[in-house]
Amino acid sequence: MKNTKYTLLLVVLVGSLLPLHAQKFQGLALTPPMGWNSWNKFACDVSEELIRETADAMVATGMKDAGYEYIVIDDCWQVSRDSLGFIVADPKRFPSGIKALADYVHAKGLKFGIYSCAGNKTCGGRPAGRGHEYQDALSYAKWGVDYLKYDWCDTEDLNAISAYTTMRDALYAAGRPIVFSLCEWGNNKPELWAKEVGHLWRTTGDIYNCFDCVQNNGTWKAFGVMQIIDKQDGLSKNAGPWHWNDPDMLEVGNGMVSNEARAHFSMWAMLAAPLIAGNDLRKMTSETQSVLANKEVIAIDQDSLGIQGFRYAVKDSVETWLKPLNNGAWAVCLLNRSTSPRVVEINWKTFSVTDSLSNRILDTTTREQYKIRDLWLKKNIGDTRKTLKTTIPAHDVLCLKLFK
Ligand code: GLA
Repeated sequence: MKNTKYTLLLVVLVGSLLPLHAQKFQGLALTPPMGWNSWNKFACDVSEELIRETADAMVATGMKDAGYEYIVIDDCWQVSRDSLGFIVADPKRFPSGIKALADYVHAKGLKFGIYSCAGNKTCGGRPAGRGHEYQDALSYAKWGVDYLKYDWCDTEDLNAISAYTTMRDALYAAGRPIVFSLCEWGNNKPELWAKEVGHLWRTTGDIYNCFDCVQNNGTWKAFGVMQIIDKQDGLSKNAGPWHWNDPDMLEVGNGMVSNEARAHFSMWAMLAAPLIAGNDLRKMTSETQSVLANKEVIAIDQDSLGIQGFRYAVKDSVETWLKPLNNGAWAVCLLNRSTSPRVVEINWKTFSVTDSLSNRILDTTTREQYKIRDLWLKKNIGDTRKTLKTTIPAHDVLCLKLFK
């Protein structure tokens, strides 16, 4: 009898310590997250100066005004664990500590993100989260972290769903709302389960800074913009407010020519992708700035319906992508994948599309007309009564918003 009483007491006590209904934090990432991440440009060369200066530049360049919010340090900020097992930031590169850095970023009106990995070691060989999930989540909460990117290196014998769920529960138990970004490269079909676990999930391996190529690194491959786009087929149905497919961070400003950068950015917007800049914001050219901060294209990405766009047609290397928008509007983006210009003609009188996924119809054959806005020229160019004929340069886009 006595034993039963103690057992019951123990169950009640332990139960009260565990978070009830552990879940991902609600109310975050209503639209695809926007921000900056250190990896694409700086890899392991990260420091508190870089992060502070990037936060400054985010504000000074108008990127913050355009909607960019999270400043995320990727791999290599961490060097060891202390005697109690708590994660330790590199004291040479982050002498003021992560909390001070998060405070600095917050004081700019921005949010702060960090990186770790589900295995024992990160992809850069640094100490990672396995077996330390609850402890690390406590550190992140204490430091004021708002966003965690969680990678998938060194995880050979791990089950992805349980590994990521453990970290989700640890974050929830720590109590600070944190956007949880899963980075298992689409290996375990995250589109089928990650919605309950995190706010965004990578759908592919790493992006490579080229428009149309595959970079073979021996044991793994990195993919150009076109190759990543092709891997998004069929994923639209899995994304929406609070849960997004992530085709990886942007390479805009890292060397692609301007039309390619424009096409890359437009397509990420059509995919309702997280817009995480990956260039050096401190030295950005005005041309790069005008791509990353094009508010009209950003509005396509951030549309409140949160419907991921889809490839509707392909003809002569020109793809037509469609994305239903709020208020009955549509984004129509024509992507010229070829290395030479293409003349395109859209006879709106024959254009009628029903998107069975979102239950929306774009029908310009009827008498009801749409106005047309060119999102890169930033001007209205007529309406759907007239056939549209134009030339799209090689590796470029024509991005239109059709609205009533
Ligand atoms: C993996 C991820 C990248 C980056 C690196 C860091 O490759 O996919 O985005 O975080 O690790 O080592």
